Amino acid sequence: MKKVLVIGSGGREHAIVFQLSRSAQVEKIYCAPGNAGIAQLAECVAISDTDVEQLLAFARAHQIDLCVVGPEASLAAGVADAFRAAGIPVFGHSKDATQIESSKEFAKQLMAKFHVPTAAYRSFADYDEAIGYVRSRNTYPTVLKYDGLAAGKGVVIAQNEQEAQQALCDMLVGEAFGKGKVVIEDYLEGPEFSFMAFVDHNRVYPMPLSQDHKRAYDGDKGPNTGGMGAYTPLPFISAEEEQWAKEHILQAVADAMVKEGKPLTGVLYGGLMKTADGIKVIEFNARFGDPETEVVLPLLKTDAFTVFHAIATGVILDNIAWHQQATVGVVLASKGYPGAYTKGAEITGTDSFDGLILHMGTKYQDGKLLTNGGRVLMCIAHGDDVRQAQKKVYAEIEKIHCTNLFYRKDIAHWAL
Ligand code: AMP
Ligand code: GLY
Repeated sequence: MKKVLVIGSGGREHAIVFQLSRSAQVEKIYCAPGNAGIAQLAECVAISDTDVEQLLAFARAHQIDLCVVGPEASLAAGVADAFRAAGIPVFGHSKDATQIESSKEFAKQLMAKFHVPTAAYRSFADYDEAIGYVRSRNTYPTVLKYDGLAAGKGVVIAQNEQEAQQALCDMLVGEAFGKGKVVIEDYLEGPEFSFMAFVDHNRVYPMPLSQDHKRAYDGDKGPNTGGMGAYTPLPFISAEEEQWAKEHILQAVADAMVKEGKPLTGVLYGGLMKTADGIKVIEFNARFGDPETEVVLPLLKTDAFTVFHAIATGVILDNIAWHQQATVGVVLASKGYPGAYTKGAEITGTDSFDGLILHMGTKYQDGKLLTNGGRVLMCIAHGDDVRQAQKKVYAEIEKIHCTNLFYRKDIAHWAL
């Protein structure tokens, strides 16, 4: 029987812990630092997800058989490198390989070198050169990306020169982001979707396609968020397109990373767009997407420990099997999110929810479940098709009560 340490504290990590808890091979799950929902399935330990030394010391002391890393910040801090050096199987990329997410310029250069389809770009460290380039192009909208981990705030779609100037000023002159570079790229149009795969060096095992909803309000209006809901499968991507993207994007990048001496050993997340000119890469992440993972991972039919351990140790899997159900997940967020919000509102009714609830930002206090973050709960239901799953999840959400939560009423609208 195996002991697993999961690193992270969001809905994504709750999904990982939930799936591992269903494995007959797993006797004990620890989660650092975890959350109130995770605490029902795992022992939460109060260690920060970037405290490499303490995480390693904990794993050694508790004879952990496998570590699964959730957040990019942990990977960028070198957690996986430290575990691998200590001989503890770890699911997660090296710090070096995590550059596929943490450096936009690295990702763009890699795609250019290996002919992976993406928007044309140039990269700049100097403000005058950058604004000179924007002026000479004189094409709007134009996309400006800060080159580094910017917690989702590093992308500006400028509609005119003034907006571009302001953004470049913030990114290259001001102190808000730190000193870095900016990637300036062509604006692409079309539906976006998420294609994740388990990757171990050249071996790529695709997951079902999913789609996030980044805007706060119905009709894809309002400010960008960490994601307000997700669903799978996607009716607007054919099996041929999926296969094409697997081969020319995910497999191509896995192979490229091996050639560059930075092999992947975890999740490769392609944020893709179906443009009139074919499927192109918007961004890569080096980890499970959040909230996509909450709808995708519960569909894993193959034992989760087997999958994570095989990727961590280089064991070749014949196949990874998935349940073919449609799944819709809706995020309940604190009123005001993604802006300022208050915490500590009581949530009732979760016990009567027929489906799966994964916690994103909650805490238990005196036996009460309280809101404790911007995104609070992810409510998930399955169905024979997306419409049925959507109907089910919204009917079940009616059972949950809290005066300080809101949610989008149109998750999965792209599919219907
Ligand atoms: P990223 O952090 O790279 O995912 O960018 C955040 C969002 O900006 C994406 O989800 C897209 O909606 C949008 N975006 C990024 N790059 C482009 C592009 N080249 N063309 C159009 N939209 C983009
Ligand atoms: N759902 C988008 C992300 O995880 O980055």
